Amino acid sequence: ANPVVTDPKSCGLPNLPAGAQPIPCCPPHIDSDNITDFVFPPKLPPRVRKPAHLLTPQEAADYKEAIRLMRALPEDDPRSFTQQAKIHCAYCHDSYVLPGSTAPPQVKVHFNWLFAPFHRWYLYFYERILGSLINKPDFALPFWNWDHPDGMYIPDIFNDRRSSLYDAKRNANHLPPVLIDLNWNKRVGDTSGDVDANLSKVYTNIAAVKAPDSFFGKSFTPAAAMGTLEGLHNTGHSWTGDPTDPNGEDMGSFYSAGRDPIFYCHHSNVDRLWKIWKDKFEGEDFTDDDYLNTSFLFYNENSELIRVKVKDCLDSSPLGYTYADVPIPWENAVP
Ligand code: C2O
Repeated sequence: ANPVVTDPKSCGLPNLPAGAQPIPCCPPHIDSDNITDFVFPPKLPPRVRKPAHLLTPQEAADYKEAIRLMRALPEDDPRSFTQQAKIHCAYCHDSYVLPGSTAPPQVKVHFNWLFAPFHRWYLYFYERILGSLINKPDFALPFWNWDHPDGMYIPDIFNDRRSSLYDAKRNANHLPPVLIDLNWNKRVGDTSGDVDANLSKVYTNIAAVKAPDSFFGKSFTPAAAMGTLEGLHNTGHSWTGDPTDPNGEDMGSFYSAGRDPIFYCHHSNVDRLWKIWKDKFEGEDFTDDDYLNTSFLFYNENSELIRVKVKDCLDSSPLGYTYADVPIPWENAVP
């Protein structure tokens, strides 16, 4: 294996699933000679990511306003709502071709060990863009706390049709007060969620897992496989997306998932579970050079193109954010 290095010049049309409207997903007017290497942000009090169902009215208003402003940016602004969603499309539907005859031939950030670090970086930039749009350097992206009974439904802030956080393409049978079912399998029809079954599921996929390749997934080769963190997270996508759309859009398909603001809060919780796994369950990150030196490209809040490496995201505190310390009711939820 080799580290995956995203080359902006290699970006081409995505391989979208059948039924999806064809769209280009590469970033707008990339200047590939103008890429800056990532540097850590200045040390400030951390942004504290809180459960989406526990925001104060002011925090909810800030979040809605930031997304409203992001939606109002011109479509070809790399910080715009449309372009942010396209990042996921490009990295998940084979837009970036790898040099030489590598296998797999394109960058993929699912079903392998790149899942956790890619999405951590993605949220890092997204959160900072939102904070800069509302001029709040301590703005923090909330998390969808579906590992706690009070968070096991689509949080209220996402359900107001007039709000910037609303997305019409969600499963009409899964709106509150329907509990999420973390064991949901769309192939066997609809079931309603169960608190204890959900807690046991989180225990099984997080607390009970020891080896990094079981937790994060296997290395980026044709034999890659997803880990239990990604597996747990997949349900949030397929359960939320609209089954009457061809690919469960928006949340149910990679290219469209980022069009639902809840996507980023869902991933904020996934990112939090990675941190909890390390802090409380003795989880350990990979140390392979190929992993550590894998790099991705993102635009920052000043629309500069930044190259980041996996090794710089393994510890979230130098990235300037943390998570509110809320109860972990699944800690001992042995099935
Ligand atoms: Cu890149 Cu939740 O998926």
